[in-house]
Amino acid sequence: MLGNFIYYNPTKLYFGTEVETNLVEALKNFGPKVLLTYGGGSIKTNGVYDTVVKALKESGKEVIELSGVMPNPTLEKLNEGIKVARENDVDLILAVGGGSTVDYSKGVAAAAWYDGDAWENFWVKGNEPASDQKVIPVGSVLTLAGTGSEMNGGSVITDEPNKLKLGKVFGERLIPKFAILNPEYTFSLPQNQMVAGIFDIMSHLMEQYFSGDDDSTTDYMIEGLMRSVVASSRVAVKDPRNYEARSNIMWCATWALNTLLKMGKKGDWMVHMIAHAIGAYTHATHGMALSAISGAYYRFILKEDQHRLARFAKVVWEIPAEGKTEEELAKAGVAALEDWIKEIGAASNVTGLGVTEAMLEGIADSTILGGGYKKLTREDVIQILKDSFLD
Ligand code: NZQ
Ligand code: ZN
Repeated sequence: MLGNFIYYNPTKLYFGTEVETNLVEALKNFGPKVLLTYGGGSIKTNGVYDTVVKALKESGKEVIELSGVMPNPTLEKLNEGIKVARENDVDLILAVGGGSTVDYSKGVAAAAWYDGDAWENFWVKGNEPASDQKVIPVGSVLTLAGTGSEMNGGSVITDEPNKLKLGKVFGERLIPKFAILNPEYTFSLPQNQMVAGIFDIMSHLMEQYFSGDDDSTTDYMIEGLMRSVVASSRVAVKDPRNYEARSNIMWCATWALNTLLKMGKKGDWMVHMIAHAIGAYTHATHGMALSAISGAYYRFILKEDQHRLARFAKVVWEIPAEGKTEEELAKAGVAALEDWIKEIGAASNVTGLGVTEAMLEGIADSTILGGGYKKLTREDVIQILKDSFLD
């Protein structure tokens, strides 16, 4: 384990089906005014809203509702939330939904009591709230497994007019204080959202795995999680109501991006950076933008991380090494990844996401460069996108 680090994560996880009891228990630690945030209404049709409101009433909370948090939440919506949270001086933000609602709630929690241009300060400059600035605690009831937002500091917001989708990873004050994880809540997801979430998990694991060349315990953990995601995905796509598979997927999602696997790893994150830029141009579903470019990306950087891609092929995809050069094995690993993308029904090209030739320069300009195994140039990004078009 290279590097010096301190590990701490404040999120208390309540896993399983006893949501009302768990939520009442979790709510005891917070003041009376709760801002309840949610998206476009799925929680009203699947019954999650009723359970949450019942637990809030039972806990004697005063509830202020803020709905309509859209996938890939916008800066305009963030500003609305800031106003509502500040005017009502809320004690807790309870996010009920997927990564967008949880990310959004952290953004509001960080920005509500900041006097100034929050977007510029937190997302563009990447600053943390000052230690004497109030931040609002966040808790979540998760309905989509994928982002890991329930146990990390990430908050991805899109400035629509300027076509900029930026992720700020806040420190521990903004990491949710609790997360209620009921795998059954994910049963009502449309198949494409379930699949997008599954690929998002895999991508978080890959983005951390494909960095560094030391012998790290973290890599062995990642391999175990990848194998579980692949095995469970194969069950879930055929039988979406399979609790065993969906609960494994939910647990994997949380651990794939909850700060643990960052330890001792640099991370790559270029697939995410390009996918965010695609999202800013097309509003593509996050996980689908990732899957659409992953094959082309890993083929593009094959020479830089051939050794680890060969290990990925052997350990994750169980491809026999005998009779193959390291390069052949690495290529077989990428091919297995691409086959799996098609098998589970994730996007395998950017054409289907609405990316056009005319957007390529803009998407490349909107991609945050700098990290990564290979230092990508703007031209490299354009090449990866071109390689991701449907032939
Ligand atoms: O708005 P509602 O009605 O809730 O519908 C949502 C939305 O349309 C629906 N949905 C969620 N749970 C459901 C459901 N529909 C039926 N039944 C349920 N149980 O699914 C749609 C997508 O929801 P969203 O929250 O947008 O999806 P996801 O969880 O994938 O979040 C995506 C956002 O998270 C960011 C992405 O960039 C994107 O903005 N990310 C956040 C990260 C973090 N915090 O660390 C890391 C990720 O890499 C990612 O960038
Ligand atoms: Zn992601």
